[in-house]
Amino acid sequence: VKLGVVIPAAGQGKRMGASIHKQFIPLRGRPLLAHTLALFEQSELISEIVIVASREDLQTIGELVEAEGLQKVSSIVIGGKERQESVSAGLKALSPLIQRVAVHDGARPLLTCQELNRFLTEAEKFRAAIMAIPVKDTIKKVDSQGKVLETPPRDTLRAVQTPQVFDRVLLEEAHQRAVESGYMATDDAALVEWLGHPVQTLMGSLENIKVTTPEDLDLAESILAKR
Ligand code: CTP
Ligand code: MG
Repeated sequence: VKLGVVIPAAGQGKRMGASIHKQFIPLRGRPLLAHTLALFEQSELISEIVIVASREDLQTIGELVEAEGLQKVSSIVIGGKERQESVSAGLKALSPLIQRVAVHDGARPLLTCQELNRFLTEAEKFRAAIMAIPVKDTIKKVDSQGKVLETPPRDTLRAVQTPQVFDRVLLEEAHQRAVESGYMATDDAALVEWLGHPVQTLMGSLENIKVTTPEDLDLAESILAKR
């Protein structure tokens, strides 16, 4: 089964508050997105990479793919205003041969190839599987005023990461139905859940952070420094 990956990297990095989009911020001297892309280039389980970029970043990302000598990148497509629209655009660009698809945030450059391959192999048993880790904090559900509504038992909660991997037809159907109904979610699995299909969580990695705010840059540098 041919496995492709869609890498949404069309965000604006608002919470980072940097002068450049966060995907280009250097980590150990190399653009953040280059780390993410190198991982999928390296994994022998991945046969195609589709990158989703904002219109303004299209050229820069094209140059980055050239500079890094990435062989598996089949296209760089323009994303949308929301992550979901960006992933949707990426799915449309995957070649017809691809039967399974992983989605991985461009902003998660710290996943290791070993963890990626372990996850993809465990995921083969499921039509939909996602990386997730047990939460350390107690999580409360609140209303719009911040008043607590409930406290779900911590051992029933997981913090969800990417990669998330799916049978291609399943994820495409989920995106299609969501766009028809105006349903928006913050990850791809939620669309599949919403269709009523089971989604399996598999062990993620504490180091697989999404680089979101400036503090995450220091953390990312220190994780890379000790490797
Ligand atoms: N993303 C995307 N298209 C969007 C929004 C986000 O492809 N319209 C991508 C981002 O580039 C990132 C991933 O989805 O790789 C996760 O999003 P997030 O961490 O929220 O990144 P940004 O949206 O760029 O950051 P912010 O929300 O702080 O603006
Ligand atoms: Mg965002």
